[in-house]
Amino acid sequence: MNIRNLIDKLAQNHTLKKEELIYIIENINDEDRKYLSQKASSLRDKYYGNKIYLRGLIEFTNYCKNDCYYCGIRKSNKNADRYRLTLDQILECADIGHALGYSTYVLQGGEDPYFNDDRIVEMVKAIKAKYPNCAITLSIGEKSYESYKKYYDAGADRYLLRHETANEEHYRKLHPENMKLSNRIQCLRNLKEIGYQVGAGFMIHSPYQTSETLAEDLLFLKDLNPEMVGIGPFIPHHDTQFKDEPAGTVEETTLMLSLIRLMLPTCLLPSTTALGTIDPVGREKGFDAGANVAMPNLSPTSSRKKYELYDNKICTGDEAAECRHCIENRINIAGYVLDMSRGDNVTWTRK
Ligand code: 5AD
Ligand code: FES
Repeated sequence: MNIRNLIDKLAQNHTLKKEELIYIIENINDEDRKYLSQKASSLRDKYYGNKIYLRGLIEFTNYCKNDCYYCGIRKSNKNADRYRLTLDQILECADIGHALGYSTYVLQGGEDPYFNDDRIVEMVKAIKAKYPNCAITLSIGEKSYESYKKYYDAGADRYLLRHETANEEHYRKLHPENMKLSNRIQCLRNLKEIGYQVGAGFMIHSPYQTSETLAEDLLFLKDLNPEMVGIGPFIPHHDTQFKDEPAGTVEETTLMLSLIRLMLPTCLLPSTTALGTIDPVGREKGFDAGANVAMPNLSPTSSRKKYELYDNKICTGDEAAECRHCIENRINIAGYVLDMSRGDNVTWTRK
């Protein structure tokens, strides 16, 4: 197999066989990486130009009833300092975001039973009532079809739920017995059916990940055809059983970003905070690999540090305005243009 030919084939057909993906992952050299990044970037430019969309992230609760082995806010981490924002505090974050020009809010939290359907619906409606033109993204885990439908009818537009790994055996090594990959996949399919713009994704270099599971992740994404894909390096958290496992690297992450861009040309693809955490210019490298979204934090600085999924998370001490301007500078210096519009996937309209 020849890597250049495989990259060309992927850029043309937007898919490859599993063995071909594994071959690229295991054999790509620096020169071919550059070639791949360029192909991915130009495909991004074809649909979205050189624009980077900004989403305001509101981390509104770090209570979680799940116990994912890799995550710093897992239920059994007794050292996590738990917090929940009130509806007023959440609206205040939205106000600050609005003043800074944001028109997308990502409401992310652990699976917190306090935020039952009524409270989520109340929150979505309150933000939409105040800012009718904004897009609302929820990222609050696995729920029933009926719950997802209620949130959608209340005005939520998008939903992020990383599948974490498409390989059953791998999934078992990252999650306790009561969490099922099949349920997660069903949730993603339900979200698609209801009409959300859906985001799936996974961590790069999570423990026990192999080239084969990565290829399976890519093919799973191709089949699901999500409107957004969230990927970032795994970074160990000191209070988890994976504390001594190595973090993912920038090279591994940018390779996956480019492959995803070539497989799903119109997807909205964030260059994540985790990528910025392992490298001072990690997010910029993500854009160069084909990413086109950044998600600066709008959470109150008082709670930022507490939403600690992994160690050394960046931007936890910065006010929302500082982050907003920092990221704008970075985007401009890297040669891209900031876009503060809703930034819907070009293939999506509300049902
Ligand atoms: N390192 C990197 N990403 C993590 N996430 C959870 N824990 C970690 C970690 N230690 C990611 C998961 C989850 C998302 C909200 O954060 O993929 O879906
Ligand atoms: Fe938050 Fe740079 S993006 S401080």
